[in-house]
Amino acid sequence: MKKDFLCLSDWSRVELDKIFDLTRELKAKQKRGEEHHLLKGKTLGMIFEKSSTRTRVSFEVGMFQLGGHALFLHSGTTQLGRGEPIKDTGRVMSRYIDGIMIRTFSQAGVEELAHWSDIPVINGLTDSYHPCQVMADLFTVIEHKGSYEGLSYCWIGDGNNMANSWINAAAVFGFELRVATPKGYEPDAAVVARAKEAGARILYTNDPMEAARGAHVLNTDVWASMGQESEQKEREKAFVGFQINDAVVAAAAPDCIVLHCLPAHRGEEITESVIEGSHSVVFDEAENRLHVQKAIMVTLMA
Ligand code: CP
Ligand code: NVA
Repeated sequence: MKKDFLCLSDWSRVELDKIFDLTRELKAKQKRGEEHHLLKGKTLGMIFEKSSTRTRVSFEVGMFQLGGHALFLHSGTTQLGRGEPIKDTGRVMSRYIDGIMIRTFSQAGVEELAHWSDIPVINGLTDSYHPCQVMADLFTVIEHKGSYEGLSYCWIGDGNNMANSWINAAAVFGFELRVATPKGYEPDAAVVARAKEAGARILYTNDPMEAARGAHVLNTDVWASMGQESEQKEREKAFVGFQINDAVVAAAAPDCIVLHCLPAHRGEEITESVIEGSHSVVFDEAENRLHVQKAIMVTLMA
């Protein structure tokens, strides 16, 4: 069993399928109001160096539902924010608590934290990846489509942390992923190369319509991620046409579903009509963060 959940490509399909099975079980128990205190007496430390609504609330509530406790540790009010080395933070926290969830900028920083911590570390988003979100996305696909297999997936927009994690998922789970980004905003070339080496079927294009044609799952994210706020105006120009709108949905499979990790910028990467429309499953997707992360925490911390 792995100690940490840092990147989807560290895990095998069999291991991740087990997490989906556990997610299904825990979600059913939660819906029935059945106690499932699998992490009784355990504490999760949640380090945030960026903002969050879903990640913070779903991890904190998830720990409560599992009979444990969660600590919100914002970098601005901890010594980490004043320059205490991550290796010291990891070793100290390992003496008090049972797991760490971290949202930060650099993936290398998360890996360093995991290296120095004796306890599991979970990646709650870095500039490179957002693995918990993509697990929730795939669980939502399973719920709506019966399986993640035999479907064609489409990513339109920025080649960002979400796109990178979807590319990793395409390698681990073996589905076809079509990616459309503007020139200059492609996903990380090293991530794509590694995924292709692992057998991923990634089809890259600059034409959103080509990517969307016949796809069963349409997915997008903001044009400017956290930390890129100063590029907002320039990105708005570069991303014209890279929007999931009614025409893009019409080009996809008739029963396609639309995902967005949220928060969304209506009128930019997605239209109001699509996010509020009948193909959108974004609130199921947001809910599933809770259930999937409970399964991840139980897998690593129980
Ligand atoms: N999707 C997601 O991670 O949302 P938050 O930034 O609100 O945590
Ligand atoms: N790509 C976005 C995802 C937010 C959940 C960001 O990093 O800001």
